[in-house]
Amino acid sequence: MKSETDFLRRLYQRASLYYDLIDWPLEQFRYKTIRRKLWKDVGGRILDLGAGTGRNAPFYPADSDVVTADLSPEMLERARRRIRALGRAPQIVVTDALGLDFKDGEFDVCVSTFLFCVLPDELQERALREVRRVLKPGGKVYLLEYVYSQNSIRRLWMRMFAPLVARLYGARFDRRTGEHMEAAGFKMLERRFVHSDILLLLVGQS
Ligand SMILES: C[S@@+](CC[C@H](N)C(=O)[O-])C[C@H]1O[C@@H](n2cnc3c(N)ncnc32)[C@H](O)[C@@H]1O
Repeated sequence: MKSETDFLRRLYQRASLYYDLIDWPLEQFRYKTIRRKLWKDVGGRILDLGAGTGRNAPFYPADSDVVTADLSPEMLERARRRIRALGRAPQIVVTDALGLDFKDGEFDVCVSTFLFCVLPDELQERALREVRRVLKPGGKVYLLEYVYSQNSIRRLWMRMFAPLVARLYGARFDRRTGEHMEAAGFKMLERRFVHSDILLLLVGQS
């Protein structure tokens, strides 16, 4: 049966071939530090949702139990190899954020980096309700997202790149993820920029 996220599954089947290569400079010089700080704050049973090729895996806390989940089997195959190379046992689950294959209240925390700038606005509340369902009461969600800068020059620069970013990753800089979090019933705990005014960390509590 055709699902609303088939286009993303197909896009990431293709993107798995170039994702790590194209993202390498940003990963080295921007994301690594941000991921390290983010993952320092979390523990317990954690869902890494939209985990892709496993870029968060080097920062999974040693004593935590992390499930690495994504829509794309091809992206996850790379994550599996990366996690094994780190000497950890991968817990890989192919699943769609719109209907997560997990029980109610299974996780203490959900971390999702750069998934919600990919997921269309009209699907976000549903996905976030699913995240809330699989979190324990009081559980937290950490979302890392790109947004348009308020600086006119930087914004123009981002607008120039937007068509390429949409083509390569299906991502946009104008998603209303914060609004969808609240609509899905999360209490917003934190909303702060972690790089300039373009990389936003949203922390919610179920
Ligand atoms: C931009 S990548 C981010 C990957 C990784 N989190 C990172 O930080 O590099 C977005 C990921 O979200 C996944 N994705 C897209 N739609 C999804 C959905 N509905 N459910 C689960 N994962 C999804 C894609 O397959 C892709 O791996």
